[in-house]
Amino acid sequence: MMKGIVLAGGLGTRLHPITKGISKQLLPVYDKPMIYYPISVLMTAGIREVLIISTPDDLGGFEKLLGDGSFLGMSFTYAEQAKPEGLAQAFIIGASFIKTDPVCLILGDNIFYGSGLQQKMQRACEMASDQNDPKATVFGYYVNNPGRYGVAEFNAENKVISIEEKPLEPKSNYAITGLYFYPNSVIEIAKTIEPSARGELEITSVNERFLQQDQLNLELLERGYTWLDTGTVDALSQASDFVEVIEKRQGLKIAALEEVAYEMGFISKEKAVELAKDLEHSAYGQYLLERFK
Ligand code: TTP
Repeated sequence: MMKGIVLAGGLGTRLHPITKGISKQLLPVYDKPMIYYPISVLMTAGIREVLIISTPDDLGGFEKLLGDGSFLGMSFTYAEQAKPEGLAQAFIIGASFIKTDPVCLILGDNIFYGSGLQQKMQRACEMASDQNDPKATVFGYYVNNPGRYGVAEFNAENKVISIEEKPLEPKSNYAITGLYFYPNSVIEIAKTIEPSARGELEITSVNERFLQQDQLNLELLERGYTWLDTGTVDALSQASDFVEVIEKRQGLKIAALEEVAYEMGFISKEKAVELAKDLEHSAYGQYLLERFK
């Protein structure tokens, strides 16, 4: 079964002083903690076992918020990343959690929204789980500032030609988003890559290795999708505004975990109502009560 990892460490220096006392991924994005968004993505992919990685200082906050996950029909476990030594370190820290399974990594500060993501993720799960011909999947998204990200160059058949980390001269406008599906071999690959000039085990190095082995699949998230990260004050505020606009317009919430758990069939209606009652003092809880009527 596909395992999930949410990487929610880092220093959050671009949000200082806000993140001097609290993890970025515990900050609100409109009406819920940031980490709810990536967790909801994993749940939508049908992933039930999730490892949450954060800093030694912040891990307790996540445990307090999310517990062992059983209230959602999920299993959450926790591990420390002593220093932010790169995204690919997640697979080394998580090796004993991943065991012999394929794994999906999502960054704790990434927000994805758009119908059809579930099908794309199902395909990625199948490809990573294929014993005979396993393939990694990364997702490309058109942005106007690709140089801040890993950038994918690809041909007319969407076959990747190159991936470059924060290139000065990007070969395309397609950034690689913070959602990755890998076969189990990612653990061994992560153990063998060298740290970059900035001292990090780069996820781009991992992806390059899968590319060399002809095992890298690129899925494009077309213009109907929204992908936001929340690393700066403006990006965080814009993400909050985005969620508020959609939720008020539709009357449906993005990433309400109890609702996702119920809709995915992870919890019963009785359990869902019980969870909603526990939250009845907030608008979020009132929403759930209404949804579970
Ligand atoms: P970044 O935005 O690159 O780093 P950061 O969150 O520390 O912020 P800043 O640049 O402002 O200092 O990280 C992207 C995501 O990955 C974010 O959710 C934090 C997480 N992360 C880790 O958990 N461990 C790491 O080693 C790195 C590099 C990032």
